Amino acid sequence: MPRYGSSNSLGLLDRSLVFITGKGGVGKTSVTAALGVLAAKAGKHTLICEVDAKGDIARLLDCEPSGFEPTEIRENLFLMSMNTEEALREYLRIYLRVPVVAKLGPLARTFDFIANAAPGVQEILVVGKLCYEVKEARYDLILVDATSTGHIVSQLASPKGISELVRLGMVKDQVAWMEDILYDSSKTSVIVVATPAETPINEALELAGRIDNETDVHLGALIVNKVMPELFSRSEEEFFTLLQDPKAIKVLNKVIPGDIELLLRGSNAALEMRRCADPYVERLISGVGTVPTALLPLMFGVGSRMKLVRDLGEAIAAEWDDFLWQG
Ligand SMILES: Nc1ncnc2c1ncn2[C@@H]1O[C@H](COP(=O)(O)OP(=O)(O)OP(=O)(O)O)[C@@H](O)[C@H]1O
Ligand SMILES: [Mg+2]
Repeated sequence: MPRYGSSNSLGLLDRSLVFITGKGGVGKTSVTAALGVLAAKAGKHTLICEVDAKGDIARLLDCEPSGFEPTEIRENLFLMSMNTEEALREYLRIYLRVPVVAKLGPLARTFDFIANAAPGVQEILVVGKLCYEVKEARYDLILVDATSTGHIVSQLASPKGISELVRLGMVKDQVAWMEDILYDSSKTSVIVVATPAETPINEALELAGRIDNETDVHLGALIVNKVMPELFSRSEEEFFTLLQDPKAIKVLNKVIPGDIELLLRGSNAALEMRRCADPYVERLISGVGTVPTALLPLMFGVGSRMKLVRDLGEAIAAEWDDFLWQG
């Protein structure tokens, strides 16, 4: 089974299904949107699936929110919101040939019953829909703005869990093709996003370990987002140290009106933030061995949301020039 640092030479986005996960608020949705825009621009027919259906992707990309049915939001880029009830309805129609279940009343009750009766049903509906889209091959790439730490593991492990539970019959066959997609490192991969602070890095390492131990899904990459950029080169830092001499401040105060000390304190705080981030970044990198890692900068004074997406895309492309796709 694929493990950390698989020798697979395929580009990260040459796969059909890529999950983006991590702790709440680390930038999963922003990274997914940035990857989607990059992939669509590179000519890949791309579907973004928003699992939590909050509509954040639409807000970031300045488009109308989408429902379960994908809508084209720009050239080559499609958006859908996951909805487990709709996924069940689609499943019943396609696989069990239950005619279009017109009225939701009885289905809603059945759905509640099924979804709450057995563990893993909600999860398998999400994963099943995504794998079904891969099987249908309407898109080159499906990017999943996935649920955060914890829940994602049960989603990724759900076909394996069900196939261990049910050894024979239709259900077994149904999950077998999902496993073929989900647990094949040339088709499916996961990106874990973190920010450079103690808890998010610990959670990212724990999540990477759980993906490795509890699922057979390929861990493709880690992203440390919102990393304070290096403000100065070495010579600029020397110059900055000289500026902080009280004598220099006194002279400057004479020629430049304004609170120079406040500016210097602000710059020092930014330098300190960067220094604090470094050990966490190093811990993450050494903790995940050969899994490729990218650092994305904390963007200052970002104008529109679309600008954040564009800037993140540029940063990802700069970090992973030849890792996103081959040729
Ligand atoms: N590199 C960055 N620089 C500055 N701000 C950023 C960066 N990345 C994301 N943000 C901001 O951080 C906030 C959280 O980002 P985002 O919604 O993408 O995170 P998330 O992990 O999807 O959150 P949730 O778990 O709530 O879905 C947003 O306000 C976003 O604009
Ligand atoms: Mg989000």
